[in-house]
Amino acid sequence: MEHELFRARYNDLVSEINKHNELYYKNNTPVISDQEYDKLYNELKELEEQFPELISPQSPLRKVGYETENELFTKVVHKNPMLSLGNTYNLSEVFNFLDRIIKSFDSSTEIEVVCEPKFDGISIELVYENGRFVRAVTRGDGVTGDDVTKNVKLIKSIPERSNLFGGNFAVRGEIFMTFSTFESLNATRNENGEKLFMNPRNAAGGTLHLKDTSEAAKRPLEIYVYDLLTEHEDVKSHDNMIELLYENEFPVFGKSNVLNVKARIEIENIIKSWDLRRANLEFPVDGLVFKVNNFEQRQVLGTNIKDPRWGFAFKFPSDELETELLDVELNVGRTGAVTPVAVLKPVLLDGTRVSRASLHNFDYIKEKDLRIHDIVKVKKAGEIIPQVTVLVQHTEFSVEIKAPENCPSCGYPLSKKMTSQKKNRKSDNEQKNREFEEEKALRCTNFNCSSRMENALIHFISRDMMNFDTMGEKLVHQLFEKGLVRKPSDFYKLTVDSLSELERMGKKSAKNIIDSIEKSKTSELWRIIHALGISGVGKANSKLLANHFGSFERLLSVNNENRESFRDELISIDGIGDTVAADIITLLSDDLFIEELKILAAFLKPQINTTVSGVLSGKSLCITGSLSKPRDYFEKLISENGGMVRNSVSAKLDFLVCGENAGSKKEKAEKAGVKILSENELTTMLTGN
Ligand code: IVH
Repeated sequence: MEHELFRARYNDLVSEINKHNELYYKNNTPVISDQEYDKLYNELKELEEQFPELISPQSPLRKVGYETENELFTKVVHKNPMLSLGNTYNLSEVFNFLDRIIKSFDSSTEIEVVCEPKFDGISIELVYENGRFVRAVTRGDGVTGDDVTKNVKLIKSIPERSNLFGGNFAVRGEIFMTFSTFESLNATRNENGEKLFMNPRNAAGGTLHLKDTSEAAKRPLEIYVYDLLTEHEDVKSHDNMIELLYENEFPVFGKSNVLNVKARIEIENIIKSWDLRRANLEFPVDGLVFKVNNFEQRQVLGTNIKDPRWGFAFKFPSDELETELLDVELNVGRTGAVTPVAVLKPVLLDGTRVSRASLHNFDYIKEKDLRIHDIVKVKKAGEIIPQVTVLVQHTEFSVEIKAPENCPSCGYPLSKKMTSQKKNRKSDNEQKNREFEEEKALRCTNFNCSSRMENALIHFISRDMMNFDTMGEKLVHQLFEKGLVRKPSDFYKLTVDSLSELERMGKKSAKNIIDSIEKSKTSELWRIIHALGISGVGKANSKLLANHFGSFERLLSVNNENRESFRDELISIDGIGDTVAADIITLLSDDLFIEELKILAAFLKPQINTTVSGVLSGKSLCITGSLSKPRDYFEKLISENGGMVRNSVSAKLDFLVCGENAGSKKEKAEKAGVKILSENELTTMLTGN
């Protein structure tokens, strides 16, 4: 049985990593940090090592990079697979890697390693034939890449001709974009309302794949070459090879830094000094690469399927850096929440130049005593949106940040909502006597505030909602400004003709957009509920509501007479609390909202939810303590068997799954008479073994 659990986790990891590879390599739009990605990747690697019989042909460990489906570019098969390197964020793992190398030779062997910056760009193979630079191919899936020669030819530092080895050879390097090019490119895209690139690496990838070379020429790229892909008996080591490339006018970063494999203090110091140095470089460096210098020794060490045993990368861990808080901007979200955003003196954080960060809310600003012109610390912490974490010091210019009283968009007064205070609720019987407290967010109370409306439309079309995959924020903005779409139901009134009136909108794109809107009409009910943007109703609650009500019409049946009983019904849904129920009732009491729902209902034919049936159908479970595998693994297992996962213990809960060191939840469950299951009992229940 246990094996089955590993298989399930293995399959999840394969599909999740493949999805992230696609977002990263194909779309240049990663949604998780490198650190999070590496965590998933390393877990998969461990599973494959432990259970080789699980290995699937779909495994991202069998492929290097991502199999691009970029039809605009001719596919080219690399002469030899373009490998990648294993990596770590820990110094001790670098030392383990070096120890493994030492152990592979007898103790008298002198072993040198070279240390180079890891350029954060796009890996490329440059091919020379008969003395001419003929082809540039991206890594692609490691075996086959895209021919991006036209755009690479724009890089001036690449020699057009070379007589090295009689003019027939190939080299490998990294193409990157400098920070200044990246910033001006994003500034232009911002002015044009185009989607911004997340970091210079994505911008470099996007540029290499531009069909229009004159467009690519406006975004200068650069390259450092670090490998010769053609073997030659005269070239015996990495430092030799770099020297040869330099003499042949290839753009190399500099002379190789050669170290003894045992020089640990020196290696540690190099890592520390590069971490400081990279902040002042004009191009992104995300780590250091260590490689065995001698090619014969490399041969002895050999390679794994995807990475060589003679090379390893150390990646710089997440930064937390100091900078000046220059200003505070206000952002009005779809639920009316007005959030303060810090405008910062730009700093380089995890390979991206950061000039904006979240300040959460005005209570946070007060709590941390933050003022404009303060020196503050900023961190990414695995998030794509950076956060201001702490005040370092006030300066003589520091000025207080005042919470606004009116909406910066429509001028309406702002207020704080009341939410029920869950921690004081002792039992279900006391629900009606609940206490309320003020929410932290300031909200605009005007349902017709244009910032709110526009953000609500953007929410409506997003991926986990109606998923209009042909439409972006810029188009929503255009439609809103033109008055073509002011509320969600207006999307369904658009036609190819009305869309074609927009600037730069061809008939074909208009048709694609109408098709994706059409497709959304049969979305699942939970997506539609999620798309409505009711505060507190995220993906999980939308699924609960959809499962419970089963149709749009049931939601529309609320009226003055049945409001109280409807509220009770909502609260009876396990997982829906008082505050969320109150928010739903408020919205369903709003005539304009109901009118909008009715119009939407006329367009939509939602798929009826099919609840997963299984051993745990209709049962609610909560997990506590440490289990043998990550929490989300068990959560998935429970849902796949028809159960519902809860975050807290109440008398309504069916089971509490307890791992080691379970704390207050266990006590609470015992008092409430909730049945407690061990991890083994849960798996036995699911498998019958
Ligand atoms: S050596 C067998 N040296 O980092 C692979 N790679 O994590 C040899 N990279 O895929 C690669 N700077 O795209 C090497 N100085 C450098 C590098 C470098 C950046 C990239 C390269 C590789 C990835 C490995």
